[in-house]
Amino acid sequence: MCGIVGYTGKNQALPFLLNGLATLEYRGYDSAGVALVSGAGSIEQIKCLGRVAALKKLCEEITVDATCGIAHTRWATHGEPSNFNAHPHSDCSGQLSVVHNGIIENYQELKQELEKAGHSFKSSTDTEVIAHLLEENLQHEAHGDMLVALQLAISRLTGSWALGVVEAREPHTLYVARSGSPLVLATTEDGAYAASDITAFAGITNHVVNMEDGQIARLSYSKDSGATCKIFESDGTSVSNPDTFDIDWDASAATMGGYPDFMAKEIAEQPEAVRRLLKNRLTPDGIRLDELDISTDEIAAIDRIYIVACGTSYHVGLYARTIIESWARIPVIVAQASEFNYEEVLVTQHTLCIIITQSGETADTLASARKMHAAGAKVLAITNVVGSSAAREADAVVYVQAGPEVSVASTKAYTAQMVAAVLLALFLAEKTGNMRLKEVCTKFQELERVPQLIEEVLTRGWQDEAATPAFIEANSSLFLGRGFGATTAAEGALKLKEISYLHAESYPAGEMKHGPIALIDQGFPVVVVCPDDHVRYKTISNIEEVKARGAVVIALATDGDQKVAQISDYLLLVPAAPEYFSPIVGVVHLQMLARFVALARGCDIDKPRNLAKSVTVE
Ligand code: G6P
Repeated sequence: MCGIVGYTGKNQALPFLLNGLATLEYRGYDSAGVALVSGAGSIEQIKCLGRVAALKKLCEEITVDATCGIAHTRWATHGEPSNFNAHPHSDCSGQLSVVHNGIIENYQELKQELEKAGHSFKSSTDTEVIAHLLEENLQHEAHGDMLVALQLAISRLTGSWALGVVEAREPHTLYVARSGSPLVLATTEDGAYAASDITAFAGITNHVVNMEDGQIARLSYSKDSGATCKIFESDGTSVSNPDTFDIDWDASAATMGGYPDFMAKEIAEQPEAVRRLLKNRLTPDGIRLDELDISTDEIAAIDRIYIVACGTSYHVGLYARTIIESWARIPVIVAQASEFNYEEVLVTQHTLCIIITQSGETADTLASARKMHAAGAKVLAITNVVGSSAAREADAVVYVQAGPEVSVASTKAYTAQMVAAVLLALFLAEKTGNMRLKEVCTKFQELERVPQLIEEVLTRGWQDEAATPAFIEANSSLFLGRGFGATTAAEGALKLKEISYLHAESYPAGEMKHGPIALIDQGFPVVVVCPDDHVRYKTISNIEEVKARGAVVIALATDGDQKVAQISDYLLLVPAAPEYFSPIVGVVHLQMLARFVALARGCDIDKPRNLAKSVTVE
């Protein structure tokens, strides 16, 4: 939520700031702004309601000679999206500018205190208090030293932040701070960079410094010393060995590459993503998950597993529960992080917690990991983003290696996370003695066929396009399924409402009779996930029930299923797959269906309204 970038160096700052913002736009896009520190010692702020493209246009109209600046793309938390509430925010004097990702929970108290001291506020954001706090500190206790002013300001804040600060007096320096919101830094010959996410560094550098919570950094550039980046702990002590890592994504991975939108590209990338994840995973001794570093005794002792996640990743958790319980015979509880964090949990030293998060930055999921750590559980992260907060919080990490996912609606990360869950389930099943090595190998070989099956589904996008008329006039829709199909239905409904703004409710097909069936009348679209599985006949009865009440049925069925074909209005066909892998294959149809419906309804595919890909606030 909200993306920030900063730069100081030998080049003009604006190009990096605008490009960086564009790559971070998935984090929020209701307004955007930039603050440039001109060599002449003043700050120019340009900000506007709307997207980074609108900001870019505005910037074309001005000329500022500035080699240092900060910028922001916003997802509103406090204060409606508007020019006034767009970041950067400044103090009364206009001598400093602040960008912020996070929430300052005690901003009301601080605002009152600062207003009493004579500060006047221009926005209704929580962030603006930071600018005035800094101004107050610079004038008094910090005696003009921004580093000290920042330390003092931070000691007054509660909540979460990734901050960028520039001051007119220092035209080659920017300050950043982190607590609870991600922030990465980099230095090259050209300058020093800060960003909410490594994607902003694509094409600039592969070597990244990860800031830790509580730290502050000063990034400077001078002709003599080049770019420098000094990191300090909150008490001012210098950090000599910052946490660094290398990215192995190439810059092209984050570009559209000829596709009409990132979602189309990411849907198409799924076979490759799955192949990459499966590479070298099977050895004569079974599934190779070196990442886990957990002994067979420890695995045998696991008494229960909590899987905690949000959104699409939560649906992966539902899938993972079924295969772990059925193959490894370990009880699994799946929870949505935002609820889980306020519930009592039953943890012993033998409890394993698995957090699933594409971005690795979802605030609620991270809070769950911390909660489970504090309770004594081991935490394993399944994530897509190398060096993310989840990866650093966890005791072990399985990276799904799907490559950068830009579209807000998750697709390739979803299927890759499911495949990671399969690897984990097979690994646990074998180590607990619940599955013989031979069966593990057979299942792995079946799994290796999944990319091919997805490729086949990808050629059938026309079936999804053909089904879009069923949704055009609708106000609502229902997604039904049983067993694994219920999970696929849940993910399909989420995809549809996320990007097409058409209400979509998912329900276990059998449970539908206890309420949602009342929704159905003539022409009501019902997507039924009905592959060739052990509950197919039961699901077919549910198709009959909704049909009898006038529903338009869009059925996800297996090739050659005559019965389902007879009773459905539209067919989304999948090639035959083992029941436990069918959700990985079938969901691809529902991703394409959501995209076609969204296109037909004229929606922005990659940046749906009100959403953000990385939800870094609770
Ligand atoms: C947001 C996104 C969803 C995503 C969810 C969890 O709501 O819009 O697409 O599934 O966050 O994100 P995570 O990065 O933790 O998987």
